[in-house]
Amino acid sequence: LPNETHTDITPIAWDDGVLRFIDQTLLPRELRYVETRDWRDVAAGIERLAVRGAPLIGIAAAYALALAARQGEPVDVAASVLAATRPTAVNLRWALDRALEAGRARRAEAVLAEARRIHDQQMADDRRMGELGAALLPSGATVLTHCNAGALATGGIGTALGVIKTAHRQGPLELVLVDETRPLLQGARLTAWELERAGVPFQVIVDGAAAGLIARGDVHAVLVGADRIAANGDTANKVGTYPLALAARAHGVPLYVVAPLSTIDRTTPDGAAIPIEHRDPSEVSAITGVRDVPALNPAFDVTPNGLISAIVTERGVLRRPCSAAIARLGAAAQAVAS
Ligand code: MRU
Repeated sequence: LPNETHTDITPIAWDDGVLRFIDQTLLPRELRYVETRDWRDVAAGIERLAVRGAPLIGIAAAYALALAARQGEPVDVAASVLAATRPTAVNLRWALDRALEAGRARRAEAVLAEARRIHDQQMADDRRMGELGAALLPSGATVLTHCNAGALATGGIGTALGVIKTAHRQGPLELVLVDETRPLLQGARLTAWELERAGVPFQVIVDGAAAGLIARGDVHAVLVGADRIAANGDTANKVGTYPLALAARAHGVPLYVVAPLSTIDRTTPDGAAIPIEHRDPSEVSAITGVRDVPALNPAFDVTPNGLISAIVTERGVLRRPCSAAIARLGAAAQAVAS
């Protein structure tokens, strides 16, 4: 087996005071890095989705605070600007709190050390989730995924894609159906790019094809990431996840959410309390290519916990009812956060 820690994609890296991150808006046409010593460039990069995916947003924000500390700027101010860039992904606030706390107690360099720890921890967590999630899949499975929950979204092997890559290495998988993921095409652009590089067989489908393929019995499991999991297990993820969950339940197909404990927000009681980011309507209307039409652009939707078969975390697989499993995790989650 190839080295399980291997990922040939480095979406973000700190090198001697310079933060480099892939501009994911240009993929797959161009692999270009943004290089900066200014935390404001990171905030702008997160906002325009150059850096995206809940865990990677957190890692980028922690490094941005390290830049702010080096720039001699107040890290608290930088943290509140960074926290406001994307409201749904709770990993952002989680990572900022960790980096701020480290900086408060010790020197500015401690912020960088904490950012590195968050980054390293995510890589290890991805590998663990990959193993635990792969064990849930039948051999020769066809799975369906949405958006991009891969290396580009975490800095490791990915969450849902980490499971897929691990299962392929062990199995292999028969096929991965990749929702193109409107309107910004994270599936067609980013997940397809990653699976191609990893040698995993895949086909891109339009989002609207998913339910019909699930109904035909062509899909053995649906695997998705998460941007925020509430205390009761309700889960916000890229818009289009909820319809997948409905279709999967209607046809007896399991839907697995794969996410680290840092995505679980026990201070948010349920899905109704999760803030949903609404992005510029032009991201939707631009697709028509013809004229500017009125558009509504919620970037995420909420899947109620009852439609989730299990949540795969680095600390184990949480089975239904997820709320009880999350409550039991309380102490462990606290320990991880501190
Ligand atoms: O808007 P994006 O591209 O940041 O949305 C990403 C997702 O919805 C992912 O599924 C989620 O962040 C989990 S990534 C491991």
